[in-house]
Amino acid sequence: MQTRQIVLASRPDGWVVPENFAVREADMPLLDPGDVLVRHLYMSVDPYMRGLMNDGGVAYAAGFQIGQPLFGRVIGVVESSRNKDFREGDCVFGMLDWAERSVARGGESLRVVDPAKAPLSHYLGTLGFPGLTAYVGMTLIGQPKEGETVYVSAASGAVGQVAGQLARIAGARVIGSAGTDEKVRFVVGECGFHDGFNYRTVPSIPEALRLYCADGIDVNFENVGGANLDAVLVQANPFARFAMCGMISQYNEHEPYHLKNLNEIVSKRLNVQGFVVRDHSHLIEQFIEETADHIAAGRMTVAEDITNGLENAPAAFIGMLKGENFGKQVVKVGEL
Ligand SMILES: NC(=O)c1ccc[n+]([C@@H]2O[C@H](COP(=O)([O-])OP(=O)(O)OC[C@H]3O[C@@H](n4cnc5c(N)ncnc54)[C@H](OP(=O)(O)O)[C@@H]3O)[C@@H](O)[C@H]2O)c1
Repeated sequence: MQTRQIVLASRPDGWVVPENFAVREADMPLLDPGDVLVRHLYMSVDPYMRGLMNDGGVAYAAGFQIGQPLFGRVIGVVESSRNKDFREGDCVFGMLDWAERSVARGGESLRVVDPAKAPLSHYLGTLGFPGLTAYVGMTLIGQPKEGETVYVSAASGAVGQVAGQLARIAGARVIGSAGTDEKVRFVVGECGFHDGFNYRTVPSIPEALRLYCADGIDVNFENVGGANLDAVLVQANPFARFAMCGMISQYNEHEPYHLKNLNEIVSKRLNVQGFVVRDHSHLIEQFIEETADHIAAGRMTVAEDITNGLENAPAAFIGMLKGENFGKQVVKVGEL
């Protein structure tokens, strides 16, 4: 049996380009005891994968190898199994290749997911690690209280939309920023943010924050970094909490943005806390239960952007880095 895979053809120099990827056919290996053959249904497209394209990867994970398939979070269905924990027909989540099929050696990283509880693609977004990221950043670090002002950047994205909705459920006043008017309308109109702005069209981010967060910012959920972060430092209230989730404005830049307002951390006694969701994987089942309840009760909305076809995954990835996705970006590679 063969499968198509997306391999890393070359490392990006700045912005990712289509030539950094190649599609290839590969033979599927035979199953050893413990192995599980998974036919893929949905693949997650995530910003952290940009760091894994660099030589050496990132501080918390090794990178992709040239000539080898990319890998990431995948939802699939078990096609055959030599592992007692997984049966043919089970829907599973795992860290698997960007491919139509792959073998999970020893069943490692696999977890059964329930297709009756939610659309399977949700397990890569709101009910998956992006949702858990929002949950960790907002509930463990941000801890918004009723009446406080919470600011979420990249607000319509996979993480941002959940982060803002969790803060709204906690009773905070939530302001979001995003890169199109349509995204801003979504977070305000459908996710229940109290207000929002298009950071590309406002006169400046500092000015927008003075206007939209007139009482200051008590919790900053940082997805963007760079000039956004510099402006939030100025608008933050004393003792504000910063959940430092990501810095997507910086991932493709040769020259990093140099922050000018770091002294605000000292003078305002800010709690600026970085975090990586994989350190909190043990919370995933509890998180899914709570969040599925929010969705079922109409307290939480889900937006996802589904691209069809394995071969279109590189374009979906490049598009996501440029802000072309509307909600959680996934790639559909098969039918259940
Ligand atoms: N710490 C963790 O464990 C963890 C886990 C998952 C994700 N993250 C981080 O969380 C952030 C959001 O990830 P996600 O998966 O939810 O992706 P996403 O928001 O669904 O997609 C990325 C979005 O980032 C925005 N963006 C891109 N370039 C930008 C720029 N220069 N300035 C402002 N916004 C820009 C775009 O939206 P606009 O159109 O609104 O610009 C784009 O749609 C990323 O920084 C990611 O690295 C961290």
